[in-house]
Amino acid sequence: MIDLKDLLKHEIMDLYSAEAQIIDALPAMIDKAKNANLKKALQEHLKITEEQKRRLDKMRQLMNDNKEEEESQETNEEKKGFFSRLFGNGMEKCKGMAGLIDEGQKIMKEDMSPEVSDAAIIASAQKIEHYEISGYGTARAYARDLNLKEVQNLLEETLKEEYEADDRLTQLALKRVNPDAEKAGITEMENRPRNESADERSATSRSSAKKSESKEHKPGRKENNEVSSTRSDASKKTSSAKANASKSGSSKQKANSRSGNQKTKKSAPKQSQSKAKKGANNKKAKAR
Ligand SMILES: [Fe+2]
Repeated sequence: MIDLKDLLKHEIMDLYSAEAQIIDALPAMIDKAKNANLKKALQEHLKITEEQKRRLDKMRQLMNDNKEEEESQETNEEKKGFFSRLFGNGMEKCKGMAGLIDEGQKIMKEDMSPEVSDAAIIASAQKIEHYEISGYGTARAYARDLNLKEVQNLLEETLKEEYEADDRLTQLALKRVNPDAEKAGITEMENRPRNESADERSATSRSSAKKSESKEHKPGRKENNEVSSTRSDASKKTSSAKANASKSGSSKQKANSRSGNQKTKKSAPKQSQSKAKKGANNKKAKAR
């Protein structure tokens, strides 16, 4: 029968395959990255990943050394079946990571500005990080329950590095890469013929509205894509609020800036002030 130790072995094999695939995939991402800080972060992460793979090798060794009893032939066959079913034909390949990498490679081939491409690279790298965080977190919990202290410490060390890499990417995205990508998009739209640009703007605001609806129900930790999309939605909403200010009342404006950040909140009173001035001028004109 499959036990918790087998699940831990499976997680370690899965992570080993994941790290090996990341080592193969990272050089192309590094080449493609335009932002110098992003390039550097990915280069450093490649070195860390190589060490993480070595650490997993050590864990596999420790797991085999810790084998308490010789298993029967029948049990051995059953367990071999378990691992080969999960990886397929006995090939130790993590399909989850293969899918994430494949998705990232596809998007990098699309036609986009280097700034937008950097944003896509970060999104892809963070999906990979989150997969690893999930795997290492689970494996560490199993190792702790099984009282495999050395394995637990090694997993803990890597988990910490994965969290650090994820946080670094979030900071890069929020401070530089996403705003640059947004600016690049605006410049591109301004340079296009008017009709095409207008169509795209309305399509963008429709998708922003959808995103905003779905985000209102999302609890938990703020991630790069969640925070950055909210920022970008907020700025779009602010400009749409300005454009529609004469049509819609102040209640609509308030609703539009509800999910905005500090910048949006600060700009709201200015809009109200200018509206109040307009109203006062109209009254004066009528009185005359
Ligand atoms: Fe890793």
